[in-house]
Amino acid sequence: MAGKTKRIGILTAGGDSPGLNAAIRGFGKAALTNGWEIVGFRDGIRGLVENRTVTLDSRALSGILTVGGTILGTSRDKVHKFQVGDEVIDARKIVVENCEKLGIDAVVLLGGGGTAKNAIRLADAGLNVITLPKTIDNDIARTDTSFGFATAMEIATEAVDRLHSTAHSHHRIILSEIMGHRAGWLTLGAGIAGGADVILLPEIPYTVESVAETIKRRMKNGSTFSVVAVAEGARDVRDAADYEAARLLVKAATTPEAQRAAKAHLANVEDSQREHTFKLARELEAATGLESRVSILGYVQRGGIPCAADRLLASRLGTAAAEAVAQGQFGCMVAARGEGTELVPLEEVAGKIKLVPTDHEWIHTARMLHTGLGD
Ligand code: F6P
Repeated sequence: MAGKTKRIGILTAGGDSPGLNAAIRGFGKAALTNGWEIVGFRDGIRGLVENRTVTLDSRALSGILTVGGTILGTSRDKVHKFQVGDEVIDARKIVVENCEKLGIDAVVLLGGGGTAKNAIRLADAGLNVITLPKTIDNDIARTDTSFGFATAMEIATEAVDRLHSTAHSHHRIILSEIMGHRAGWLTLGAGIAGGADVILLPEIPYTVESVAETIKRRMKNGSTFSVVAVAEGARDVRDAADYEAARLLVKAATTPEAQRAAKAHLANVEDSQREHTFKLARELEAATGLESRVSILGYVQRGGIPCAADRLLASRLGTAAAEAVAQGQFGCMVAARGEGTELVPLEEVAGKIKLVPTDHEWIHTARMLHTGLGD
């Protein structure tokens, strides 16, 4: 297929992430240099199914390097379970037909582990696909990192920094809840960089006693305040066990009914644990006597301009994707590997999650700094 590719589709899927536009621009500029046409699909997989497109010429690509979000829009749709009104359909055939009509030779999908799953489904249906790793969570398997992560870590670090002065002034515990889904990278990175006194991660279930102990030790040493960086996926030992058991039930369910019941149970467990940071704040107040407050960072971590590191990474991965397409390399993700890039089969990425290994160097660093990890 090398030399023959003329029209390439591109879309952004899943949660938005700083650097998406830099990656679109990186791919687009390299693609235009090859003389290709680039067709952007709006709102992720939804635009691919509904055939909503925009031509990405050099004018459309100009001035977007520093822009946050995605100029194409995004969604979390699944191609094989695609919602149309009240109906759920398998939209794979529709996508293939749309791409044939548009004369699309390949589709570049910017997304995470879920997008890799969609990409495999599209590849099985006959499309040439390639993905780029995007997420603030840094949880995509087989890549060193993903664009969005560095920016989000900057934002979360600044938040942890700023919480220090108000916690100090009021002699309070302030818990800062940081995104990351089921991975603790963002919280661990921002927690260390921002000098959090306690860092709580999904990978290390905590006990309230241990967290309180760290705070009381600080009080004994004259620090009547503490800043706790809490990952949105962090749980105490009991909640973590309940959650894991519910997840295992879903995995073990063999019939559709059993699956439905197990998924409903998992959703209930997740729901009951949603306010976990507020619960921890109350428990710490009772255990330490210090007033506690919660600050949920939320979507501010995903918004706004990408930092230099993310612009650079997204540009490197975007241009590398154009090289891969030129060589006819499909069914893979362009991974960041050291100073370079590497093509990784999508099967090694889809549905996988890169958690923080409990013996990771960052964990070691936190322990050496006497940061409480709640264990
Ligand atoms: O994956 C990125 C992320 O921001 C996670 O950190 C968070 O759990 C999730 O997306 C939020 O998803 P949504 O945008 O659907 O609320």
